[in-house]
Amino acid sequence: MLTVHALTKIYANRFDTQAGGVRDVAFDLPTGTFFTLLGPSGCGKTTALRCLAGLEEPDAGRIDIEGEPVFDAGRGLNVPPERRDIGMVFQSYAIWPHMTVFENVALPLKARGTPRADIAQRVSQTLETVGLAAMAQRSATKLSGGQQQRVALARCLASHPKLILLDEPLSNLDAKLRIEMRAEIKDLQRKLDATMLFVTHDQEEALSLADEVFLFDRGRVVQSGSPRDLYEMLDVAARHNVKALTERFKMADANEAIARVKKSKVRYRAVLTN
Ligand SMILES: Nc1ncnc2c1ncn2[C@@H]1O[C@H](COP(=O)(O)OP(=O)(O)OP(=O)(O)O)[C@@H](O)[C@H]1O
Ligand SMILES: [Mg+2]
Repeated sequence: MLTVHALTKIYANRFDTQAGGVRDVAFDLPTGTFFTLLGPSGCGKTTALRCLAGLEEPDAGRIDIEGEPVFDAGRGLNVPPERRDIGMVFQSYAIWPHMTVFENVALPLKARGTPRADIAQRVSQTLETVGLAAMAQRSATKLSGGQQQRVALARCLASHPKLILLDEPLSNLDAKLRIEMRAEIKDLQRKLDATMLFVTHDQEEALSLADEVFLFDRGRVVQSGSPRDLYEMLDVAARHNVKALTERFKMADANEAIARVKKSKVRYRAVLTN
Protein backbone atom coordinates (compact mmCIF):
# COMPACT_ATOMS: atom_id res chain seq x y z
CA MET A 1 0.00 0.00 0.00
CA LEU A 2 1.25 3.46 -0.89
CA THR A 3 -0.45 6.20 1.08
CA VAL A 4 0.17 9.88 0.52
CA HIS A 5 -1.77 12.50 2.45
CA ALA A 6 -1.91 16.26 1.87
CA LEU A 7 1.54 16.31 0.34
CA THR A 8 2.71 19.86 -0.26
CA LYS A 9 6.04 21.13 -1.52
CA ILE A 10 6.15 24.73 -2.68
CA TYR A 11 9.29 26.27 -4.09
CA ALA A 12 9.68 29.80 -2.69
CA ASN A 13 6.73 31.38 -0.91
CA ARG A 14 3.93 28.96 -0.05
CA PHE A 15 1.36 31.82 -0.15
CA ASP A 16 2.37 32.69 -3.68
CA THR A 17 -0.31 30.90 -5.73
CA GLN A 18 1.92 31.01 -8.82
CA ALA A 19 4.94 29.35 -7.15
CA GLY A 20 5.93 25.95 -8.54
CA GLY A 21 5.59 22.70 -6.64
CA VAL A 22 2.73 20.44 -5.54
CA ARG A 23 -0.24 21.16 -3.28
CA ASP A 24 -2.42 18.79 -1.29
CA VAL A 25 -1.56 15.71 -3.33
CA ALA A 26 -3.11 12.45 -2.10
CA PHE A 27 -2.83 8.81 -3.24
CA ASP A 28 -4.13 5.64 -1.66
CA LEU A 29 -2.96 2.73 -3.77
CA PRO A 30 -2.83 -1.01 -3.09
CA THR A 31 0.49 -2.83 -3.56
CA GLY A 32 1.05 -3.76 -7.19
CA THR A 33 -0.82 -0.78 -8.66
CA PHE A 34 0.57 0.72 -11.86
CA PHE A 35 -0.24 4.41 -11.72
CA THR A 36 0.66 7.33 -13.93
CA LEU A 37 0.96 11.05 -13.34
CA LEU A 38 -0.15 12.83 -16.50
CA GLY A 39 0.08 16.54 -17.11
CA PRO A 40 1.76 19.35 -19.02
CA SER A 41 5.34 20.51 -18.50
CA GLY A 42 5.89 22.30 -15.18
CA CYS A 43 2.73 20.94 -13.49
CA GLY A 44 4.67 19.27 -10.65
CA LYS A 45 5.11 15.64 -11.74
CA THR A 46 8.84 15.45 -11.00
CA THR A 47 8.37 17.32 -7.74
CA ALA A 48 5.79 14.75 -6.54
CA LEU A 49 8.09 11.90 -7.53
CA ARG A 50 11.13 13.43 -5.81
CA CYS A 51 9.11 13.82 -2.61
CA LEU A 52 8.22 10.09 -2.71
CA ALA A 53 11.89 9.22 -3.28
CA GLY A 54 13.03 11.38 -0.37
CA LEU A 55 15.10 13.66 -2.60
CA GLU A 56 12.94 16.65 -1.75
CA GLU A 57 11.68 17.50 1.73
CA PRO A 58 7.96 18.32 1.55
CA ASP A 59 6.57 21.29 3.52
CA ALA A 60 3.59 19.29 4.76
CA GLY A 61 1.89 15.90 4.55
CA ARG A 62 2.57 12.24 5.16
CA ILE A 63 3.95 9.37 3.05
CA ASP A 64 3.71 5.66 3.94
CA ILE A 65 5.37 3.01 1.74
CA GLU A 66 4.13 -0.54 2.41
CA GLY A 67 2.72 0.54 5.76
CA GLU A 68 6.08 2.07 6.72
CA PRO A 69 5.94 5.83 7.44
CA VAL A 70 8.81 7.46 5.52
CA PHE A 71 7.72 11.07 5.83
CA ASP A 72 5.53 12.79 8.38
CA ALA A 73 5.79 16.56 8.68
CA GLY A 74 3.81 16.50 11.93
CA ARG A 75 6.32 14.18 13.60
CA GLY A 76 9.42 15.57 11.89
CA LEU A 77 10.04 12.15 10.28
CA ASN A 78 12.03 12.01 7.02
CA VAL A 79 13.59 8.64 6.08
CA PRO A 80 16.57 9.07 3.69
CA PRO A 81 16.22 7.78 0.10
CA GLU A 82 18.55 4.78 0.54
CA ARG A 83 16.33 3.40 3.30
CA ARG A 84 13.03 3.59 1.35
CA ASP A 85 13.36 0.44 -0.82
CA ILE A 86 12.62 2.35 -3.99
CA GLY A 87 14.01 2.24 -7.51
CA MET A 88 14.04 5.38 -9.59
CA VAL A 89 14.70 6.44 -13.15
CA PHE A 90 15.48 10.14 -13.41
CA GLN A 91 14.27 12.25 -16.29
CA SER A 92 17.97 12.96 -16.99
CA TYR A 93 18.97 9.23 -16.58
CA ALA A 94 21.92 10.11 -14.26
CA ILE A 95 24.07 7.15 -15.25
CA TRP A 96 27.80 7.10 -14.44
CA PRO A 97 29.93 7.96 -17.47
CA HIS A 98 33.16 6.39 -16.12
CA MET A 99 31.55 2.96 -15.68
CA THR A 100 30.51 0.25 -18.09
CA VAL A 101 26.87 -0.65 -18.69
CA PHE A 102 27.26 -3.70 -16.43
CA GLU A 103 28.86 -1.68 -13.60
CA ASN A 104 26.13 0.95 -13.77
CA VAL A 105 23.37 -1.63 -13.39
CA ALA A 106 25.28 -3.52 -10.67
CA LEU A 107 25.86 -0.43 -8.53
CA PRO A 108 22.70 -0.44 -6.37
CA LEU A 109 23.03 -4.21 -5.84
CA LYS A 110 26.65 -3.78 -4.69
CA ALA A 111 25.58 -1.00 -2.35
CA ARG A 112 23.12 -3.42 -0.74
CA GLY A 113 25.80 -6.07 -0.27
CA THR A 114 24.23 -8.55 -2.73
CA PRO A 115 26.58 -11.57 -3.31
CA ARG A 116 28.68 -11.32 -6.51
CA ALA A 117 27.18 -14.34 -8.24
CA ASP A 118 23.66 -13.02 -7.65
CA ILE A 119 24.68 -9.61 -8.97
CA ALA A 120 26.05 -11.13 -12.19
CA GLN A 121 22.87 -13.11 -12.73
CA ARG A 122 20.46 -10.27 -11.94
CA VAL A 123 22.35 -7.76 -14.08
CA SER A 124 22.52 -10.10 -17.09
CA GLN A 125 18.85 -10.93 -16.78
CA THR A 126 17.84 -7.27 -16.56
CA LEU A 127 20.09 -6.22 -19.45
CA GLU A 128 18.47 -8.96 -21.50
CA THR A 129 15.05 -7.50 -20.70
CA VAL A 130 15.96 -4.00 -21.85
CA GLY A 131 17.76 -5.29 -24.95
CA LEU A 132 21.30 -4.34 -23.92
CA ALA A 133 22.80 -7.77 -23.21
CA ALA A 134 25.38 -7.34 -25.97
CA MET A 135 26.56 -4.03 -24.54
CA ALA A 136 27.29 -5.04 -20.96
CA GLN A 137 31.01 -4.22 -21.20
CA ARG A 138 30.63 -1.03 -23.17
CA SER A 139 31.56 2.28 -21.54
CA ALA A 140 28.47 4.31 -20.68
CA THR A 141 29.84 7.32 -22.54
CA LYS A 142 29.63 5.37 -25.80
CA LEU A 143 25.87 4.96 -25.77
CA SER A 144 23.09 6.79 -27.55
CA GLY A 145 20.49 8.69 -25.54
CA GLY A 146 18.00 5.85 -25.89
CA GLN A 147 20.57 3.28 -24.77
CA GLN A 148 21.49 5.39 -21.74
CA GLN A 149 17.83 5.59 -20.87
CA ARG A 150 17.59 1.80 -20.95
CA VAL A 151 20.68 1.48 -18.71
CA ALA A 152 18.93 3.74 -16.19
CA LEU A 153 15.84 1.56 -16.43
CA ALA A 154 17.83 -1.64 -15.92
CA ARG A 155 19.66 -0.15 -12.92
CA CYS A 156 16.34 0.73 -11.33
CA LEU A 157 14.73 -2.67 -11.93
CA ALA A 158 17.70 -4.93 -11.05
CA SER A 159 17.29 -4.62 -7.29
CA HIS A 160 13.59 -5.57 -7.47
CA PRO A 161 12.39 -2.65 -5.35
CA LYS A 162 8.89 -2.54 -3.87
CA LEU A 163 8.19 0.95 -5.17
CA ILE A 164 9.42 1.94 -8.63
CA LEU A 165 9.43 5.58 -9.69
CA LEU A 166 9.91 6.33 -13.39
CA ASP A 167 10.18 9.90 -14.63
CA GLU A 168 9.43 9.94 -18.39
CA PRO A 169 11.58 6.81 -18.77
CA LEU A 170 10.87 6.30 -22.49
CA SER A 171 11.05 9.89 -23.73
CA ASN A 172 14.23 9.33 -25.75
CA LEU A 173 13.27 6.13 -27.52
CA ASP A 174 11.90 5.89 -31.04
CA ALA A 175 8.21 5.03 -31.44
CA LYS A 176 8.71 1.30 -32.03
CA LEU A 177 11.10 0.71 -29.13
CA ARG A 178 8.94 2.87 -26.93
CA ILE A 179 5.92 0.62 -27.44
CA GLU A 180 8.02 -2.52 -26.91
CA MET A 181 9.54 -1.14 -23.71
CA ARG A 182 6.10 -0.14 -22.40
CA ALA A 183 5.03 -3.77 -22.61
CA GLU A 184 8.26 -4.97 -20.98
CA ILE A 185 7.88 -2.52 -18.11
CA LYS A 186 4.28 -3.51 -17.52
CA ASP A 187 5.26 -7.18 -17.60
CA LEU A 188 8.11 -6.70 -15.14
CA GLN A 189 5.93 -4.71 -12.81
CA ARG A 190 3.43 -7.58 -12.72
CA LYS A 191 6.15 -10.17 -12.14
CA LEU A 192 7.72 -8.17 -9.31
CA ASP A 193 4.28 -7.24 -7.93
CA ALA A 194 5.80 -3.81 -7.37
CA THR A 195 3.87 -0.59 -7.07
CA MET A 196 4.91 1.52 -10.04
CA LEU A 197 4.64 5.23 -10.63
CA PHE A 198 5.13 6.24 -14.23
CA VAL A 199 5.36 9.93 -15.04
CA THR A 200 4.52 11.01 -18.58
CA HIS A 201 3.01 13.85 -20.54
CA ASP A 202 1.91 11.39 -23.23
CA GLN A 203 -1.82 10.80 -22.87
CA GLU A 204 -1.92 7.57 -24.81
CA GLU A 205 1.00 6.17 -22.85
CA ALA A 206 -0.68 7.03 -19.55
CA LEU A 207 -4.03 5.52 -20.58
CA SER A 208 -2.63 2.34 -22.09
CA LEU A 209 -0.36 1.46 -19.16
CA ALA A 210 -2.07 2.46 -15.95
CA ASP A 211 -4.48 0.90 -13.50
CA GLU A 212 -5.01 4.40 -12.16
CA VAL A 213 -4.27 7.77 -13.77
CA PHE A 214 -3.75 11.05 -11.92
CA LEU A 215 -4.17 14.18 -13.99
CA PHE A 216 -2.00 17.00 -12.70
CA ASP A 217 -2.43 20.67 -13.37
CA ARG A 218 -0.51 23.51 -11.73
CA GLY A 219 0.64 21.42 -8.82
CA ARG A 220 -2.69 19.79 -8.05
CA VAL A 221 -4.40 16.53 -8.88
CA VAL A 222 -7.39 17.72 -10.90
CA GLN A 223 -8.78 14.30 -11.80
CA SER A 224 -8.01 10.68 -11.04
CA GLY A 225 -9.45 7.35 -12.01
CA SER A 226 -9.07 4.29 -14.19
CA PRO A 227 -8.19 4.76 -17.88
CA ARG A 228 -11.90 4.11 -18.59
CA ASP A 229 -12.95 6.97 -16.26
CA LEU A 230 -10.42 9.29 -17.80
CA TYR A 231 -11.35 8.29 -21.31
CA GLU A 232 -15.01 8.97 -20.57
CA MET A 233 -14.15 12.30 -19.02
CA LEU A 234 -12.18 13.33 -22.09
CA ASP A 235 -15.00 12.09 -24.27
CA VAL A 236 -17.53 14.19 -22.37
CA ALA A 237 -15.16 17.15 -22.51
CA ALA A 238 -14.94 16.78 -26.27
CA ARG A 239 -18.69 16.37 -26.76
CA HIS A 240 -19.47 19.39 -24.64
CA ASN A 241 -16.61 21.29 -26.13
CA VAL A 242 -14.89 21.92 -22.81
CA LYS A 243 -12.02 23.91 -24.25
CA ALA A 244 -10.29 24.80 -20.98
CA LEU A 245 -9.70 21.20 -20.03
CA THR A 246 -8.45 20.06 -23.38
CA GLU A 247 -6.26 23.10 -23.90
CA ARG A 248 -4.68 22.64 -20.51
CA PHE A 249 -3.61 19.16 -21.50
CA LYS A 250 -2.26 20.42 -24.78
CA MET A 251 -4.93 18.85 -26.92
CA ALA A 252 -5.44 21.60 -29.41
CA ASP A 253 -8.17 19.61 -31.05
CA ALA A 254 -10.06 17.49 -28.54
CA ASN A 255 -11.73 15.39 -31.23
CA GLU A 256 -8.41 14.48 -32.69
CA ALA A 257 -7.15 13.46 -29.26
CA ILE A 258 -10.21 11.30 -28.69
CA ALA A 259 -9.83 9.79 -32.15
CA ARG A 260 -6.24 8.88 -31.32
CA VAL A 261 -7.29 7.09 -28.16
CA LYS A 262 -10.07 5.34 -30.06
CA LYS A 263 -7.65 4.24 -32.76
CA SER A 264 -5.64 2.42 -30.12
CA LYS A 265 -8.90 0.76 -29.07
CA VAL A 266 -7.51 -2.74 -29.36
CA ARG A 267 -4.80 -2.07 -26.85
CA TYR A 268 -7.18 0.04 -24.84
CA ARG A 269 -9.70 -2.81 -24.68
CA ALA A 270 -6.92 -5.15 -23.61
CA VAL A 271 -6.16 -2.86 -20.71
CA LEU A 272 -9.81 -2.66 -19.73
CA THR A 273 -10.39 -6.39 -19.75
CA ASN A 274 -7.25 -7.22 -17.76
N1 LIG B 1 14.37 23.53 -7.39
C1 LIG B 1 13.39 24.32 -7.80
N2 LIG B 1 13.32 25.62 -7.41
C2 LIG B 1 12.31 26.44 -7.80
N3 LIG B 1 11.29 26.03 -8.59
C3 LIG B 1 11.30 24.77 -9.01
C4 LIG B 1 12.35 23.84 -8.65
N4 LIG B 1 12.08 22.63 -9.21
C5 LIG B 1 10.92 22.80 -9.92
N5 LIG B 1 10.45 24.07 -9.78
C6 LIG B 1 9.21 24.60 -10.38
O1 LIG B 1 8.12 23.79 -9.94
C7 LIG B 1 7.20 23.54 -11.00
C8 LIG B 1 7.03 22.06 -11.20
O2 LIG B 1 8.25 21.51 -11.70
P1 LIG B 1 8.39 19.96 -12.03
O3 LIG B 1 9.82 19.73 -12.39
O4 LIG B 1 7.82 19.17 -10.93
O5 LIG B 1 7.45 19.85 -13.32
P2 LIG B 1 7.15 18.60 -14.28
O6 LIG B 1 5.68 18.38 -14.26
O7 LIG B 1 8.03 17.48 -13.93
O8 LIG B 1 7.54 19.18 -15.72
P3 LIG B 1 8.23 18.46 -17.01
O9 LIG B 1 7.15 17.69 -17.72
O10 LIG B 1 8.72 19.61 -17.84
O11 LIG B 1 9.35 17.60 -16.51
C9 LIG B 1 7.76 24.28 -12.21
O12 LIG B 1 7.09 25.51 -12.30
C10 LIG B 1 9.22 24.47 -11.88
O13 LIG B 1 9.72 25.64 -12.48
MG1 LIG C 1 9.58 16.52 -14.90
